[in-house]
Amino acid sequence: MSADGTILVTGGSRGIGAATASLLADQGHRVVIVDIAPEPLAGTNAILWPAPFDVASEAAVVTGVADIEKAHGPITGLVNAAGVFGKMHPIERVRMEQWDREVNIDLRGTFLVARSVGVAMAKRRHGAIVNVASVAGMTSGPIHAYTAAKAGVIQITQTLAAEWGRAGVRVNAVSPGFTRTAMLEAGIASGALDKEMLARPTAMNRLVEPMEVAQAIAWLLSPLSSGVTGINLPVDAGYIAGTSWAAYGGLPDAPAN
Ligand SMILES: NC(=O)c1ccc[n+]([C@@H]2O[C@H](COP(=O)([O-])OP(=O)(O)OC[C@H]3O[C@@H](n4cnc5c(N)ncnc54)[C@H](O)[C@@H]3O)[C@@H](O)[C@H]2O)c1
Repeated sequence: MSADGTILVTGGSRGIGAATASLLADQGHRVVIVDIAPEPLAGTNAILWPAPFDVASEAAVVTGVADIEKAHGPITGLVNAAGVFGKMHPIERVRMEQWDREVNIDLRGTFLVARSVGVAMAKRRHGAIVNVASVAGMTSGPIHAYTAAKAGVIQITQTLAAEWGRAGVRVNAVSPGFTRTAMLEAGIASGALDKEMLARPTAMNRLVEPMEVAQAIAWLLSPLSSGVTGINLPVDAGYIAGTSWAAYGGLPDAPAN
């Protein structure tokens, strides 16, 4: 990625995508955001692609990427942040239409956009891609399609890194833990989610801020990570590290001052 190219952020109108687009624009990059429900970001120079962009539609992605490159020049950085959360259901009640929706947007959509952008990056011998996976793709949970889709995102990240490594294109993933986006806050406010239960298993006893995920993504796009490709970087306040301590009676409190 370089400052003279364009960085495309999918799902850029909200949440982690929005925080990432704002950060990258503040760093001086030309950033174009696309979203299925496009809304401009206040207080940033990030450019909104005004037409709805559905990452799960092959035709929409192929034409959309071509039109964006025509309007804004070659895409040298890509952030695949568009996604939908998993619906929590007992296994008997998992509806296969819901399964298909989550897999189509979270896994197939990530692959479609990465391929549409990455093939051209490889021809130009230059580019960096970051896919937003999840700690849910590294652990188990009653969100059957979502965990499988996110594990798939971690897998295709490695495959694409190997595919394009010799062409100078790096592909990495970040795996956020529970991140304080508007949607998560709404879930907490409605009582569907319990903030304390989400925070307690983490080593740091807290949720992740969208900007903390954005900082990791910006690092993976930047030349500061020039030797890094094919990794999955958890940004989870120690969720992976801390979860198994419940079996031993829980995590220790900080010592008294
Ligand atoms: N917030 C968390 O706790 C958390 C944790 C781990 C991983 N993630 C992942 O981070 C990514 C961003 O999630 P978020 O928390 O910012 O959610 P969010 O709902 O705030 O933002 C997601 C954005 O993606 C857009 N989008 C949804 N479907 C789309 C489609 N088909 N095509 C294009 N855009 C689409 C939405 O309109 C929205 O603007 C997702 O992949 C999510 O799975 C989130």
